[in-house]
Amino acid sequence: MRDWLRMLGAGCLGFFVMCGVGGVAQSAAGAKAAPHKAVAKAAAKEPMVAATPPMGWNSWNFFAGKVTDKDIRDTADLLVSTGMRDAGYVYVNIDDTWEGDRDAQGRIQSNSKFPDMKALADYVHSKGLKLGIYSSPGAKTCARFEASLGHEEQDAQTYADWGVDYLKYDLCSYRTVMTAQAPDDIPAQYKLMREAYEKMHQAILKTGRPMVYSLCQYGWDSVWEWGPSVGGNLWRTTGDISANFDRMSVIGRGQAGLAKFAAPGHWNDPDMLEVGNGKLTLDENRTHMTLWAILAAPLIAGNNLTQMTPEVGGVLMNKDVIAIDQDVLGRQGDRIFAQGPVEIWAKPLSGGRKALAIFNFGETASEMRRISLHLKEAGFLGHAIAHDVWAAKDLGPISDDTKFSVPRHGVVLLVVR
Ligand code: GAL
Repeated sequence: MRDWLRMLGAGCLGFFVMCGVGGVAQSAAGAKAAPHKAVAKAAAKEPMVAATPPMGWNSWNFFAGKVTDKDIRDTADLLVSTGMRDAGYVYVNIDDTWEGDRDAQGRIQSNSKFPDMKALADYVHSKGLKLGIYSSPGAKTCARFEASLGHEEQDAQTYADWGVDYLKYDLCSYRTVMTAQAPDDIPAQYKLMREAYEKMHQAILKTGRPMVYSLCQYGWDSVWEWGPSVGGNLWRTTGDISANFDRMSVIGRGQAGLAKFAAPGHWNDPDMLEVGNGKLTLDENRTHMTLWAILAAPLIAGNNLTQMTPEVGGVLMNKDVIAIDQDVLGRQGDRIFAQGPVEIWAKPLSGGRKALAIFNFGETASEMRRISLHLKEAGFLGHAIAHDVWAAKDLGPISDDTKFSVPRHGVVLLVVR
């Protein structure tokens, strides 16, 4: 069952023929960042949620279709006892497979794995956490459970009544509506898709309850250009991540060029974290966390907290890395240099500082030989003082000639001022 569900969740259902673009954001070079005027106005009226990239936990990456009420309660307890809540991970998001049937009035019910959603929301809130839920604009979710088509306002109101604070809205079977209504007309299909996301946006607004609105449609139609115009606080830029270094790094590196579309309230989402899942090594987990922090990506952990090792906890809760992700400037970083497996990415931080990450995506350690640090491209003309974040060490002055040894699949992360 779980494998079947995982397969369904692997980004795209079989009938999603368009979900194949490598699952990675296409270059945004030349794309217009034109904010929608109507939306800018609407946004001004809406309460600001996600002023910094949302942080929390989601059930899919580890539990997938097996998630239960007990898993959510255990996770809530552990977010508190491990210190994750206090490090910023406040949203507890139930992904697909919580949905039951509709009652005679058409009101969505949770299924037997979630006996009382309101009680669960109360429990999560009692821990100082917030609750997230999942649906689709189609008739069925990606795992083929009941979804919101034709019930948008009713569902949004039900979520609000339960006390939901965050909705992930996953395109899934809405694709069949798009192809049925506009066969062979991709622009018309995309218009229907945008309208479906706007419909749920309006439904959420109508409830009067602030909810983070997370768009999940795998980056189609350059969602970063129109995500804010349908109320998206974050939008997936890719197909699904999985718990292996290649998939994670392909997705992360594929975000180059999207920085200009991120801003407070509106974030590019390269998918949830796999830190602590699969067989990712310490260096790989650090690379994953660093890349997501440089990208100002939502930090939605996806591991099983009942089995979290101190090492994994140390990666997820590194305060300096989280501070880079959550920096108040709200600027996403970008790649400033690439040579083979070595890439240097920089993210502007408040106070004129910059985060500088030197990645080694290669299979052997890199001594950086003749690779300069490219401090000018990172915004430093004169001298620069560095702190090594993962080593928790002040390095003092550095120059373009300072060389680092970067392990296989590893990273050196600096805060430079
Ligand atoms: C996928 C989505 C995953 C997960 C899954 C659930 O489409 O990308 O993150 O939500 O559906 O079925």
